[in-house]
Amino acid sequence: MAATNIEVWQLGTVVEVRDIATDIQRIVIEPSLPKKAEPGSHIDVQVRIDGHTDTRSYSVVESSEDGTRLAISVLKAPLSRGGSVFMHTLQPGDQLEITQPLQNFPLRVGAERYILLAGGIGITAMINMARVLKNLRLEYTFVYAGRSRAAMAYLTELQELHGENLVVHVDDEGTSLDVKRLVGGAAEDTELYMCGPIRLMDAVRRTWTERELSYPNLRFETFGNSGWYDPEKFVVKVPRLNLEVEVPQHRSMLEALEDAGADMMFDCRKGECGLCEVKILKLEGAIDHRDVFYSARQKNATEKMACCVSRAVTSKTGLMAGASVAGPAVVTIEVS
Ligand code: FES
Repeated sequence: MAATNIEVWQLGTVVEVRDIATDIQRIVIEPSLPKKAEPGSHIDVQVRIDGHTDTRSYSVVESSEDGTRLAISVLKAPLSRGGSVFMHTLQPGDQLEITQPLQNFPLRVGAERYILLAGGIGITAMINMARVLKNLRLEYTFVYAGRSRAAMAYLTELQELHGENLVVHVDDEGTSLDVKRLVGGAAEDTELYMCGPIRLMDAVRRTWTERELSYPNLRFETFGNSGWYDPEKFVVKVPRLNLEVEVPQHRSMLEALEDAGADMMFDCRKGECGLCEVKILKLEGAIDHRDVFYSARQKNATEKMACCVSRAVTSKTGLMAGASVAGPAVVTIEVS
């Protein structure tokens, strides 16, 4: 599911900013080179963090027919690397560099039935898809899971639009999503589209595999930054390049290696394509695999990692193999 579209950068003008849930803002942008966003598309945005620019991806929640207005929604993440904090400073009239809508999570029209599954801010990737399924009168169940109603963006609008097709799970109401039940009850010809935290998506993938359902029928979009454990500072060594680099809590290993002058391969930067794979030569600590590219068996083997999202951490019970260290963790790698 790597991005295969050509990126066309343009200027976008912010025309509307609104709080829509706890720590979530809806931001409407008018692009200078309008192009309609199809379901599943996102835009890349240049964000400014501590004097440097970086790229973040945001799903397009709504697009006008002519593409002159694009709405995104941004969660100010508690462990943000700075991108979402920057996005939350935007005001109407501000301008920023954005791409035209890019498509790497297309909706395939033609399945017998669909499940759309959104966890938390992952709802932003599913809203446009659900609207299309409803308009086409296809058979779908739209599952929306969140911590609390206050933290679930667009909940009221979605309930009004989708009625009984929308199934809501709220942790603090004791109605948390039961993944085994959801996937266990899926008919064999179901296509399941999902976007949410890595733990949710891992659980769905595991259950999907256990049931031996068709893997191409499971489609997903990631945020690329939600892991099993809070990010820690760690050290990465690349003997062939004579590099020893500290990866700060709020930078990815890929970014830290790029900053140090390493010529790195990458595409999605979201843990989906595997292009940024590095080989692990030695590990002091453990790996918090945050990608959706490797299988559970590959992750357990701890032989390689997707350095755009995955991190080294001091050893904690349940993490992928590695010797326990007081910290910081150290991973020695080979890059391609
Ligand atoms: S760049 Fe795609 S998985 Fe890292």
